[in-house]
Amino acid sequence: MRAFSTFLILVLIVTACQQQKRSGNIAVGGTNELFRSQFHFTPESGWMNDPNGMVYYDGEYHLFYQYYPDSTVWGPMHWGHAISKDMIHWERLPIALYPDSLGYIFSGSAVVDWKNTSGFGTAQTPPIVAIYTYHDPKGDQSGRIDFQTQGIAFSLDKGRTWNKYERNPVLANPGIRDFRDPKVSWNEVSNQWVMTLAVKDHIEFYASLDLKKWDKLSEFGKTIGEHGGVWECPDFFPLKDEQGDINWVLLASINPGGPQGGSATQYFVGKFDGKNFTSQDTLTRWIDYGADNYAGVTWSDIPSQDGRRLFLGWMSNWQYANVVPTKAWRSATTLPRNVKLIKKSNGYELEFAPVDEILPIQQEPVIYDGTAKIESSLFMMEFDVDEAVQDFTLTLSNDQHEKIIIDVKGSRLSLDRTFSGIIDFNPDFPAIHTMNIHDVAIHNIKLYVDQASVELFVNNGERVMTELVFPTKSYNLIKLEQENPKFKISYISSIWK
Ligand code: FRU
Repeated sequence: MRAFSTFLILVLIVTACQQQKRSGNIAVGGTNELFRSQFHFTPESGWMNDPNGMVYYDGEYHLFYQYYPDSTVWGPMHWGHAISKDMIHWERLPIALYPDSLGYIFSGSAVVDWKNTSGFGTAQTPPIVAIYTYHDPKGDQSGRIDFQTQGIAFSLDKGRTWNKYERNPVLANPGIRDFRDPKVSWNEVSNQWVMTLAVKDHIEFYASLDLKKWDKLSEFGKTIGEHGGVWECPDFFPLKDEQGDINWVLLASINPGGPQGGSATQYFVGKFDGKNFTSQDTLTRWIDYGADNYAGVTWSDIPSQDGRRLFLGWMSNWQYANVVPTKAWRSATTLPRNVKLIKKSNGYELEFAPVDEILPIQQEPVIYDGTAKIESSLFMMEFDVDEAVQDFTLTLSNDQHEKIIIDVKGSRLSLDRTFSGIIDFNPDFPAIHTMNIHDVAIHNIKLYVDQASVELFVNNGERVMTELVFPTKSYNLIKLEQENPKFKISYISSIWK
């Protein structure tokens, strides 16, 4: 009896320790909740939007993000924080930046200041510097228009704690309502920091030697690209094509005005002479033709031996982000993607392929012919398409009559989520989304399905569609209709287990 009670006490102690660990920094993500993403990052609770300050340092990918811990709808913005060794498994860390007397902490970027140009660290301990927008709610409410300015903060302990610069803001507002989302990088050609800033309907370029004093270089975009909404969250980086030629890529998110309505991200490829950016042409190109990939940017300071340009987006749309039917939290990020620059007959285009780091959580594929009844709600489906007969219809469904249909007919690919599950939280959500594929010869389709999302990669990223879905039971029936309907299914393991 005595031995048994000692055993019982031991069990209780071990369980208590485990529980403490689970409620600490190593988040478990509430794995059994309905719609909780299992291989995409979500905050454990509260509201999330844009990814911010994505920087790689000392073996860790940092993800900061627009975060409001006190509610599941947008509110006073903080920077939430998570780290990862592979961009797939995440450890949630305490909030990095809190609102202060200058305002909420809106979107921005982070860089490793290797040469300590800011003087915040030393050459031995280079500071990580975050450059973000202050949004002063009082200024906004009182009818002013100059309530958005840019501030900086630094960390000397691998992003764990942050000090705001005492002379913030570093870039004052010139008298324009929308003046935000600085993305900064070191420019090797002109040997200075270059900032791209979203300013209402265009992008402005600024330069600095120390991250504290900024001078305007140029503007881009007033008469090019889409203008159905305000421009936000730019990114700007050089990228080599397959021949090794370098071009500059400018991402500019826009809301509303996307190809499926609401939010989306357009891009431009061109030349940068250290001062001005010129686009290769005046065509509009989108990084993703789905409704749910917004405000995405790329990681800063990826080591040159790696050489990739790695992207992550916010998997939602301002049309309904505040009302999607998740409970304790709102929003997830997209899968991380590797950005490639491809020269086509009508100019340069970007491709966004899922990163290889996803492969270790994908199980051995099983091959099916036409239909499959599957056992997990987490999977990657892949099949080839005959270049001569491009049309196919793919249906994922469950026994609740909930389904999504992906269909290729002629030069059009469509994804129908009108009966995908819970759809009645917003009239814009149930819709058939189409993209024109007249210039694409489809040979491969990959579909990543998580509890509340599908990400469709045509030819490993030549075209992408990212879409939220809220099935009340997982889609366990798969049907592919095409001449040769063979497909592979690889189950995916949860990142939280
Ligand atoms: C984009 C955005 C940014 C802004 C942030 C506020 O989704 O509107 O322009 O900095 O969200 O949370």
